[in-house]
Amino acid sequence: MSFKPLRKAVFPVAGLGTRFLPATKAMPKEMLTVVDKPLIQYAVEEALEAGIEQIIFVTGRGKGALEDHFDVSFELEATMRARGKSMAAIDGIRQKPGSPVYVRQQEPLGLGHAVWCARDIVGDEPFAIILPDELMVGAPGFMAQMVKEYQRLGGNFIGALEVPAEETDKYGIITPGAIDGRVTEVKAVVEKPAKGTAASNLMTPGRYILQPEVMRILDNPVTGAGGEIQLTDAMAQLIGKQPFHGYTFDGQRFDCGDKAGYVQANLALALARDDIGPAVREFARGLLN
Ligand code: UTP
Repeated sequence: MSFKPLRKAVFPVAGLGTRFLPATKAMPKEMLTVVDKPLIQYAVEEALEAGIEQIIFVTGRGKGALEDHFDVSFELEATMRARGKSMAAIDGIRQKPGSPVYVRQQEPLGLGHAVWCARDIVGDEPFAIILPDELMVGAPGFMAQMVKEYQRLGGNFIGALEVPAEETDKYGIITPGAIDGRVTEVKAVVEKPAKGTAASNLMTPGRYILQPEVMRILDNPVTGAGGEIQLTDAMAQLIGKQPFHGYTFDGQRFDCGDKAGYVQANLALALARDDIGPAVREFARGLLN
């Protein structure tokens, strides 16, 4: 079986972000900043590093700030230039003309539905999916690591990470087959299995490379866990028909859709920085003492 090269990535950003209220009442969750960069920019940079050429956002109402972030900011740029200020912090954010592509998910019916909303732009090509609220820190990044294996094996890939056994009911969980280093054959994937029933502790933290046939399954969606149209359920139907592998990320995960995870991300990334790291470290030490 031969597979087309991966050129496109879908970023579902149409969720309501209810766990992060009140911050997300009028502002997209994906614009929350970790230190000085919005989550969506980390996600787009992860895709570009992996060689992705076309960025596709699935958005909804109230997400205008996301579009502006990747556009020209004429007044800001003109003023900064006139004042001789460095443009380094905003250089390179603006994408090439015609990109990103924005499609609308009129109602937040679930991740599977959000992905399906990009079907016409994805067309007959494999595509990546990146959930921006899951911040993945690695060198190289998660998607670049996974693309390397995709180029070797083709088919479908689901990003994976180990979680403590008592947390498996919160995530999509992989039933693993043969394991070869970080690559695991996927026998099944179940969204939020009931406590005590998970087949492993390998969860799926929002990174995928899928073949376009998954869109045909999503043409006839079923309502799954939480009353939502789940991507996991659609992928599960492809397993056995096409190669499916899990790839265990070599790096650190921060669940920035969750308040504790978001604060941890800010602390970890601030401590790792040369400019503000020392000041933050000293302050944190003082607090803990
Ligand atoms: P979440 O499950 O975190 O949902 O979605 P959410 O609405 O963003 O946040 P909470 O749970 O209410 O706090 C995971 C990803 O899928 C997108 C979200 O934007 C997020 O990036 N999503 C989810 C959609 O685009 N559409 C949906 O219908 C659901």
